[in-house]
Amino acid sequence: MPSVYIETYGCQMNVSDSELMLGVLAREGYVRTDDPTAADVMLVNTCAVRDHAEQRVLGRMGELKRYKRPGDVLGVVGCMAQRLGPRLLERVPQVDLVIGPDGYRSLPELIARARGGERAADVAFKGWEHYEDVPPVRPDSASAFVTVQRGCDYRCTFCIVPMTRGPERSRRLADVVNEVTRLAASGTTEVTLLGQTVNSYHDGTHDFADLLRAVGTVPGMRRLRFTSPYPTDFTERVLAAMAGTPAVCEHVHLPVQSGSSRVLKRMLRRYDRARFLEVVAALRRAISGLALTTDIIVGFAGETEDDFRETLSLVEEVGFDDAYTFKYSLREGTPAVRLKDHVAEDVKTERLERLITVVRRVAARRNMALVGTTHEVLVEGPAKRGGLLQTRTRTNKVALVEGSPDWIGTYRRVRFTGTTGSTFTAWPVEQERTLVG
Ligand code: 5AD
Repeated sequence: MPSVYIETYGCQMNVSDSELMLGVLAREGYVRTDDPTAADVMLVNTCAVRDHAEQRVLGRMGELKRYKRPGDVLGVVGCMAQRLGPRLLERVPQVDLVIGPDGYRSLPELIARARGGERAADVAFKGWEHYEDVPPVRPDSASAFVTVQRGCDYRCTFCIVPMTRGPERSRRLADVVNEVTRLAASGTTEVTLLGQTVNSYHDGTHDFADLLRAVGTVPGMRRLRFTSPYPTDFTERVLAAMAGTPAVCEHVHLPVQSGSSRVLKRMLRRYDRARFLEVVAALRRAISGLALTTDIIVGFAGETEDDFRETLSLVEEVGFDDAYTFKYSLREGTPAVRLKDHVAEDVKTERLERLITVVRRVAARRNMALVGTTHEVLVEGPAKRGGLLQTRTRTNKVALVEGSPDWIGTYRRVRFTGTTGSTFTAWPVEQERTLVG
């Protein structure tokens, strides 16, 4: 049987897309391998959001080339493939095929052509494509990603994604519910719904509130998450559906990007600082014990020291549980490259360090206050170190617990005994143990 090795960079949707690609290839008889040296086909699923992500992939191409035997095929797929298209074939001679996020059905065909010595790219957008008939090949796990929306119609000036993932489209609610029902039947108890602006989901009939209620009440579905929402798309209906659906977890990843209204305007975000704070307050009113995480860009074009300080003060004011922090990376083809007053690299570096310090301090303060509290955790697998198990709370906090490997995939109650500031150590609370759901 032919084998495929796939390496995934970037966001959760890329992880989900890799599962779809394995699904497309499984129909052709391919099996997955974790060993690139043994693979007949090697695929690298890429990210284009920052230059750094692309540079890493280019470096990795040089390494994967060494595993290529005569007849083997090396492909670049995903957002960087879409952005560069045939240019990637010119630039990297060892690459045989280039496919963007809407072209994964062409994998078998392009692999066959590559075997015949023809290098090709498929970067056409298909505004209807959901791969509805392709069963994703997922790892054996209690948790699964389910893509519910592809593409993006927002036009944040820094962001390449509308150019790499094409127009926004939502899957039909019934199709999503069928998939989740099948997952539940095979033992999945936690689902994360994925979309670029997932709470703007609309299938023509149903909105995101309908989707949350429908998925959250599939029998066996114990935890429901979603990422990433757009701050101003939390309608009253969505807030009510979150509050009224017990499976919906008490964690929202809410990308703010900046704490300065002036910068948000230049980013073409659809809110200012005050409006963002209102959304946070509304979410906290709706969901008690809510954990909030975010994405923040420093050094966007025109960001002054005063603007940056507003970002620092916003982190304090909201009290985020964690944040992914990035230096602004100019992306060719995005509106922001034409803005004036780009920030010098050393200033970006300095601001990023200051931001990380504040984020860590705010997170640590919140986490320290949680030591001694008890939580339901899903046991995800062995921890990287120390023979412990890695578990996760509904609020998305990671806790390391001593326990037996056969706990993996089950829910337990634990008490937090300590924190590094970001992750926890915990003890099982045996007498309160929750049975497998
Ligand atoms: N530069 C830096 N960070 C970016 N992001 C998106 N585009 C850029 C860019 N050009 C960040 C945003 C987004 C996250 C996925 O990546 O914070 O929320």
